[in-house]
Amino acid sequence: MKLRVDPLKCQGHARCFALVPELFDVDEYGMSSVKGDGTVAPALEERARLAVANCPEFAIEEINGAAPAS
Ligand code: F3S
Repeated sequence: MKLRVDPLKCQGHARCFALVPELFDVDEYGMSSVKGDGTVAPALEERARLAVANCPEFAIEEINGAAPAS
């Protein structure tokens, strides 16, 4: 499982960081990004899905490692 945060959608609610600080960083404006390349350790997958479901802006996306279609 791998996640990314869409910087155009993120509005800095920081629920992701509150739920799974192991996976997310927030900058000085409160905007979130994934740590590292966004790969989620198996032990964190359940909480990662919780973060995806709890972002009010739907800014957190699960990606599958394949390059996005262009
Ligand atoms: Fe941004 Fe959503 Fe987290 S708005 S800070 S990705 S909860």
